[in-house]
Amino acid sequence: MTTRKVTKAVFPVAGLGTRFLPATKSIPKEIMTLVDRPLIQYAIDEARAAGITEFIFVTSRGKSALEDYFDDAPELESSLEAAGKTALLETLRSTYMPSGAIAYVRQNRAQGLGHAVWCARQLVGHEPFAVILTDDVIAAEKPCLQQMMEAYAETGGNVVAAMEVAPEKTSSYGVLDISEEHGALVRVRGMVEKPRREDAPSNLAVIGRYILTPYVMETLNQAKKGAGGEIQLTDAIAAEIDSGRPVHGFRFRGQRFDCGSKAGFLQATVAYGLAREDLNKDFRQYLEETLSLRAAAQ
Ligand code: UTP
Repeated sequence: MTTRKVTKAVFPVAGLGTRFLPATKSIPKEIMTLVDRPLIQYAIDEARAAGITEFIFVTSRGKSALEDYFDDAPELESSLEAAGKTALLETLRSTYMPSGAIAYVRQNRAQGLGHAVWCARQLVGHEPFAVILTDDVIAAEKPCLQQMMEAYAETGGNVVAAMEVAPEKTSSYGVLDISEEHGALVRVRGMVEKPRREDAPSNLAVIGRYILTPYVMETLNQAKKGAGGEIQLTDAIAAEIDSGRPVHGFRFRGQRFDCGSKAGFLQATVAYGLAREDLNKDFRQYLEETLSLRAAAQ
């Protein structure tokens, strides 16, 4: 199948981040650091690895730290250069983005993920696009969006990242109703936003990576408020199925951390801390000692 190459990604970062109050009173959630890199850096790196060249951020009030993050830092650069700190200099430069590669649009009011994506409509234009939720950090040998691009090259249409969740957790996700299974790919015949366990059509949940057709934007143009009084992206993707355009779920290979929640962020911190060569030894020892002290105290 011939599919148009996806070069644009939308990063909706206009949410209120209430689960991280009081921190998010003054810092955007996306700037919070996992070891030493802000969440947004993980998302950008994943997008770049997947061939994305245009990065569209949907921001809101109080997110200026996020906008500043991608600027060059010439003063810092010369000070590191003068001090001969070449490794840090490399790290710094790896965060630079070409001028004009990033665009920011505002969501005036947090009206849900679907609404946030719709705010990017003029920059996306009439072409397929990716959506990345920075809260979902995915540790994977091959970055998740890259895996999805490969699947998309075969299927076209819409591809959403999917993973199995425990039945009691379906009410936290958009859940897929599946008609066919082909290995990692499943053909979707319906999607339900945050169903109760007894109403869930499967336990395959959608997480924060999407490749979508431009028609999703058109559907969002007429969108009505759905579950939770918000404009839901899930509803607009489900409408694709009714219009006869394919929607596939893709079981990615990797481990997803829900960094939008405190527990998920802590788990990611441990996993990424342990994965780092420069920290592994001392950090592992600390964790082992802490856990064995706790076990002994019980
Ligand atoms: P969440 O559901 O995690 O909401 O949004 P939130 O506001 O970020 O966090 P909590 O629940 O209050 O703690 C999922 C993603 O959608 C974006 C968020 O920034 C996040 O990346 N989003 C959500 C928007 O951009 N606009 C919205 O109106 C809602």
